[in-house]
Amino acid sequence: MSEQAKEPRGDKGKGPVHVAIIMDGNGRWAQARGKPRLFGHHAGAKRVREIVEACPEIGVKYLTIFAFSTENWKRTQAEVSGLMGLFRRYIKKEAQDLRDRGVRVRFIGDRVKLDDKLVDLMDELELMTAGNDRVHLTIALNYGGRDEVARAAKRLAYDVAQGAVQPKDVDEETLPRYLDTYVLPDPDLVIRTSGEARISNFLLWQSAYAEYEFIDTLWPDFTDKIFTRIVGNYAGRTRSYGAVTR
Ligand code: FPP
Repeated sequence: MSEQAKEPRGDKGKGPVHVAIIMDGNGRWAQARGKPRLFGHHAGAKRVREIVEACPEIGVKYLTIFAFSTENWKRTQAEVSGLMGLFRRYIKKEAQDLRDRGVRVRFIGDRVKLDDKLVDLMDELELMTAGNDRVHLTIALNYGGRDEVARAAKRLAYDVAQGAVQPKDVDEETLPRYLDTYVLPDPDLVIRTSGEARISNFLLWQSAYAEYEFIDTLWPDFTDKIFTRIVGNYAGRTRSYGAVTR
């Protein structure tokens, strides 16, 4: 993955291999319909299935979605517990189907603060889909980019203290091995729905060379058609990684 950042190349004509999505706008979508925010999150969960299904058809091998951030605990207790319940139900309901459709599921983020039942379901789903390779779905749950880098630095510091790593050997190649995403390629394209042009602490290290697409559509209205169009647009862009390619 860090090879990618080091080797300047243009990707013109190629689609993104790894797409990351900040799924925003569920609350506004529900409010516009006079419904509670959780209604929007339920509608959002349905979209996840549609977008995962579209991936193999358009050549997206890795999809990473931002489901719950380290900052989302600041929401009302009712919304937080509603979301946690939704994640549990989603995993129980979709597990079989994800496995049968060749989806390998991984979770990133700090599991320590999550309830044990949810963590058990996450572990189980990772295990039961571990042999799949058609699409790699990564769900960021209690995830924050700075938190991830800090946790990585802590683990690296332990290895240094134990003599397993020499301080002089710590470089751009070393640190990502301690990130939650160590087995994934860096994202090529990051999409954020709902009109906000921020990255909100998502994949900070990994997105150094990503293209960004900010679109006004609220997440529950984000169809596979819109997804396909955005992925298609990406192929027309040139990525230079700092070099001159034209
Ligand atoms: C942001 O919208 C969305 C979230 C914090 C939750 C994302 C969760 C889902 C899409 C639900 C399902 C996910 C899985 C993996 C089952 P917001 O509430 O901030 O919207 P707002 O900006 O309009 O208030």
